[in-house]
Amino acid sequence: LWTASNIIEDSIARVREQVGSDRVLLGLSGGVDSSVVAALLHRAIGDQLTCVFVDNGLLRLGEGDQVMSTFARHMGVNVIRVDAEDRFLGRLKGVSDPEQKRKIIGNTFIEVFDDEASKLQDVNWLAQGTIYPDVIESAGAKTGKAKVIKSHHNVGGLPEEMNLQLVEPLRELFKDEVRKIGIELGLPSEMVYRHPFPGPGLGVRILGEVQKDFAKTLRLADHIFIEELRRADLYEQVSQAFAVFLPVRSVGVVGDNRLYAHVIALRAVETIDFMTARWAHLPYDFLDLVCRRIANEVEGVSRVVYDITGKPPGTIEWE
Ligand code: XMP
Repeated sequence: LWTASNIIEDSIARVREQVGSDRVLLGLSGGVDSSVVAALLHRAIGDQLTCVFVDNGLLRLGEGDQVMSTFARHMGVNVIRVDAEDRFLGRLKGVSDPEQKRKIIGNTFIEVFDDEASKLQDVNWLAQGTIYPDVIESAGAKTGKAKVIKSHHNVGGLPEEMNLQLVEPLRELFKDEVRKIGIELGLPSEMVYRHPFPGPGLGVRILGEVQKDFAKTLRLADHIFIEELRRADLYEQVSQAFAVFLPVRSVGVVGDNRLYAHVIALRAVETIDFMTARWAHLPYDFLDLVCRRIANEVEGVSRVVYDITGKPPGTIEWE
């Protein structure tokens, strides 16, 4: 019988048998899959698990603190938080080509993760949040937009001498099953039912060159959009929603002053498989409210637009 608790019991037994008393390393991104692996492994092997959470400076508002509070504070999981914002932003300086940015973010991630991993003593296993669709997908890999974080958490990206073996407890599960398990393991439902977030994070939502103040503006605008979607009970009706920072400036007016500032685009889509999507027909009043809040509350934004491009012809992300 398939129930979340049966699957959990079964996975726990398998992991224990697999790793024995060895230590396991996990790259925790805060996404659904790695979060569920963290919760599952913590239940199975407790302190034998060490998670590394890399803050690349391209996360959503409060995301790093949320990960630390959920896992480290509430669940007592060993989590090493690495503040690598300067390293990532330094590497991205002057780079505006989307594929180049993806590569840099992926490679920097490997470096940071390797540095942390090599500081740890006697780790023999690397855990990954690979789920069944990833197994299928990597068989016929999508070029250019490979799941950077996931593909780089593999053994190939780690120092040879570490010789890590893989633990992939979600390998046979679909997303909805992973979510049920997450809930059963006590993860907050906002975390488990969160929209997907790309490995390169805000790096592909700030068009062109990534700058620290652009990231700050985008984080605030995105947070308002998501907060209002939740408040209006629309969050779970759309498959993915986010804000995009456009590095063009447009003229606006605030009180008696002329404003010449940046543009924020809002994107919300409905999709089953993320291969095709339609733009979400969000209510005009709702969009109006979000636009007003962003324009009033976020400095450096003069205009807000809503993306009405389907996939195809657009992709879901703007880069
Ligand atoms: P696109 O933009 O190709 O996105 O329509 C389809 C889905 O994939 C996500 N996405 C990524 N996820 N690394 C990821 O882990 C990436 O480089 C990446 N690029 C796109 C996107 O958010 C959407 O859910």
